[in-house]
Amino acid sequence: MRLFIAINFNSDTRVQLLAMRDELRSRSERGNFSLPENLHLTLAFLGECTAKQVSDANVVMDLVNFDPFDIHIERVGQFKRSTGDIWWVGVRGNKPLLNLQRGLTSKLIAAGYTLDRREYTPHITLGRGIVTDTSPWQIKPFGETVTAIELMKSDRIAGKLTYTAIHRREAR
Ligand code: 2AM
Repeated sequence: MRLFIAINFNSDTRVQLLAMRDELRSRSERGNFSLPENLHLTLAFLGECTAKQVSDANVVMDLVNFDPFDIHIERVGQFKRSTGDIWWVGVRGNKPLLNLQRGLTSKLIAAGYTLDRREYTPHITLGRGIVTDTSPWQIKPFGETVTAIELMKSDRIAGKLTYTAIHRREAR
């Protein structure tokens, strides 16, 4: 099973993210744009997991305590790639978000996971393999209060990238 831990958004936030994805699409020559139901913020990417690792991930999520906190979605950005760029919406790296991400990461490592040690760049991917001559643009910041995190399973079903929540941890 291919897993990651993520924040999923309420419907108001989704509507706004989708409008940004559509704006990007209208400015692009081509690209693989995220499906509306797949827009999320990853906290930790676990990759392929054994059954034991899945149960360890559940335990780690249950050990991490966090209070509800606000996230601020504040800019459009891109990661340059020779095969077409990745475009995303950036989330402010505020203390509660970074504390939660670090708490999860350190507990996952203690449980034996090998994780990406690159600096965490909180982002919501709008599309990959994007070819466009547009530049990142300013947005009016918006956000929501995060009250839960979810363990997500990633599958390709009939060619369609499908994410399913298999465990949920509520804020205190
Ligand atoms: P991305 O959108 O920037 O690709 C599921 O793939 C989620 O895990 C995505 O949010 C993805 O981020 C993230 N992720 C982080 N590291 C990854 C990796 N090494 N391979 C695939 N996805 C990764």
